[in-house]
Amino acid sequence: MSKRYFIETWGCQMNDHDSEKLAGTLETMGFEVTQEASDADVYLLNTCTIREKAAEKVFSRLGVIRQMKQNRGGEMVIGVTGCVAQQEGAQIFSRAPYVDLVLGTQALKSLPDMMDRIEQRQGHQVNVDKDPDNHLFPVKQISRKAKLKGLITIMEGCDNYCTYCIVPFTRGRERSRPVADIVAEARMLAEQGTKEIELLGQNVNSYYSTVSFAELLRQLNEIESLHVIRYISPHPKDFDRDVIETIRDCPKIATNIHLPAQSGNSRILKRMGREHTRNHYLEKVSMIREILGNQCSLTSDFIVGFPGELDSEFNETVTLLEEVGYDRIFSFMYSPRPGTGALKHGDPVPQSVKHERLQILQKRQLEIQKQRMEARIGQEVCVLVDAIKLGERFPVSGRTRDNLLVHLDVGELAPESLFSRSLPVTITGAGVHTLRGRLGVS
Ligand code: 5AD
Ligand code: SF4
Repeated sequence: MSKRYFIETWGCQMNDHDSEKLAGTLETMGFEVTQEASDADVYLLNTCTIREKAAEKVFSRLGVIRQMKQNRGGEMVIGVTGCVAQQEGAQIFSRAPYVDLVLGTQALKSLPDMMDRIEQRQGHQVNVDKDPDNHLFPVKQISRKAKLKGLITIMEGCDNYCTYCIVPFTRGRERSRPVADIVAEARMLAEQGTKEIELLGQNVNSYYSTVSFAELLRQLNEIESLHVIRYISPHPKDFDRDVIETIRDCPKIATNIHLPAQSGNSRILKRMGREHTRNHYLEKVSMIREILGNQCSLTSDFIVGFPGELDSEFNETVTLLEEVGYDRIFSFMYSPRPGTGALKHGDPVPQSVKHERLQILQKRQLEIQKQRMEARIGQEVCVLVDAIKLGERFPVSGRTRDNLLVHLDVGELAPESLFSRSLPVTITGAGVHTLRGRLGVS
């Protein structure tokens, strides 16, 4: 019987995709996936360290995995991969000697060699080297989880060094893939039935090779059988007019614009090392609304309780929400990260204040969001059906071009027959997080 692997993934889409690369690597070595973690001969924990006590969480989870290893008489290779692996390196072995391998974010291709050495009983294996070509991973070696939606790396790394953020340290400097490789991968997926692709990069729209990000989007828009092209996670500085006009002119490109502001106050933004002031940011929002009109949704990330943030400065974040009118926000309490620039300010905002600010921000957003969602009732949109859950009240759901979740009323039609189709829909109802719609437009 062939050996089995199990991969547990935390964090962002970049990590999800790294897990697909690790899975494919193990499969080329003859391993098979198992859904039963405790049956695994190889257990990889693919970790994230963006916020709060990441390493603690990893060690606590490793305690559970260690138990599984003991239940198998020690016959389980345990590997820690991802951003915590990159950050902690071989130190992981001193706290968790039962871990066999530590594989950083930029050394994915070294997994087979490490596995060989473990097989030969050569002891703990670690590789946190920074292979500048890590982003050029062999496409054929990727084992993708979903057929409908395909993840595609277009760049890796970050050169911005925002003072709160650990990503430049865990993911390295920016590198972009050649445009021809990306287009070839997208075509191959489209031929295999993929309808939606998601372009990935820590600063996805900072993509630059022989062509710009906008040109890459234009080329991908030409691939006939693709329906939707998404991309994550963008940086506000690289949404220029060319990109926004390209999104307007290319019907397959998703129209949700994720524009992470982090704060609405210019002094805090400067301290965060962000490139925009509040005014620059609002100018960008106006440019986007001028070009895309009502056809886009706007989302953002925010951090509350950054060192030195005064009540009045936090209030400017609340008023930014009101001025922009976001369709979603993702908000977090500041958490000091090892090695980052903001550490020099300490962490002076008390936890209780951070907590209170987060509540205020999220409550205000829900009020704004409710109004924005309700304003969509009556709109005619196109929905790509990406989930069928038989037995639920609305078994068919999908997403609009601007990435809102819609539960569909499909009358007498068989739900399964609608999977992976792009359908015209009229919005008939709205909750705070999801829309309802019926098939057909007037
Ligand atoms: N503390 C809190 N939130 C953070 N983020 C990044 N670093 C930190 C940190 N140290 C948030 C930012 C970023 C999102 C992915 O996570 O809002 O956009
Ligand atoms: Fe987490 Fe950031 Fe690493 Fe993604 S890149 S896994 S969000 S720390």
